[in-house]
Amino acid sequence: MAKDSSNSFVRFRDAGFSYDGKRFVFQNLNLEVPQGQFLCLLGGNGSGKSTIAKHIDALLVPDEGAVEVFGKDTANPEFTYFIRSNAGLVFQNPDDQLVASLIENDVAFGPENLGIPNPELRQRVTDALAEVGLQGFEEHETFALSGGQKQRVAIAGILAMDPAILILDEATAMLDPRGRKGLMRVVRQLHQEGMTIVMITHFMEEAASAQRVVVLDEGQVRMDGTPQEVLVRADELQQLSLEVPFACRLSLLLRQRGVNVPVCITDDALKEELCALSSTM
Ligand SMILES: Nc1ncnc2c1ncn2[C@@H]1O[C@H](COP(=O)(O)OP(=O)(O)OP(=O)(O)O)[C@@H](O)[C@H]1O
Ligand SMILES: [Mg+2]
Repeated sequence: MAKDSSNSFVRFRDAGFSYDGKRFVFQNLNLEVPQGQFLCLLGGNGSGKSTIAKHIDALLVPDEGAVEVFGKDTANPEFTYFIRSNAGLVFQNPDDQLVASLIENDVAFGPENLGIPNPELRQRVTDALAEVGLQGFEEHETFALSGGQKQRVAIAGILAMDPAILILDEATAMLDPRGRKGLMRVVRQLHQEGMTIVMITHFMEEAASAQRVVVLDEGQVRMDGTPQEVLVRADELQQLSLEVPFACRLSLLLRQRGVNVPVCITDDALKEELCALSSTM
């Protein structure tokens, strides 16, 4: 796909949207996601995260202002197909996203609809399954998979369409901690390979993996920065009904008690700081 000259893959420009024509979910929203960024969207229930995700995939279009994806106006029907086939949206429940009983047919569904012929189609299925750690699963039945595996098949189906941006709307919400970690590994790997990622989550340890964290409240951007800048703002996060990462809470508590550790946002970082501290004692 041709690169957007402005380097901005997603741009909300004074955007406003209302489902019922009365109450705006967001208004005067300005938000840009550059190509290759791994952005995490946080916000309490009803703050507008899923509505924003659907605007990036042109499933919804703004009532006011504009949303541009890959430099194209989502409200222009001429671009709808292009945007939807280059922006992959993964939802919370994998059961709602799988369409075929055999994994290879499921993963092939999207690219087949894009008109990708064989043998490229088969190659894309093989590559996408390898990308999510399910190589060799082509002939398996989708119903027999765990939730985490199903979600990875759903992502493989999107990857096989070769999207330029991946939007995950609480895609890890129904998975156990192991399934969540596995999926996060896949997302981090995709980002390292250059994919633009917009991840919506309620899990702070996932937000800590992102390059940038945007916190929404009533459709407005309340915080915007690196995870290290945003996730340590404990009082504000709590006011917005968001959790503060465990490592952050513990390091703040330790600092209050006079222990000289920086405010850490991940367990691993805090563990390292405490180990370093204990070795100097
Ligand atoms: N299909 C719909 N029709 C009418 N109102 C809707 C619809 N979907 C969402 N809303 C309303 O829009 C607002 C934003 O909802 P949205 O689903 O975007 O929030 P969210 O941040 O994704 O919340 P959650 O964390 O619960 O998933 C809420 O007030 C919600 O009730
Ligand atoms: Mg939502």
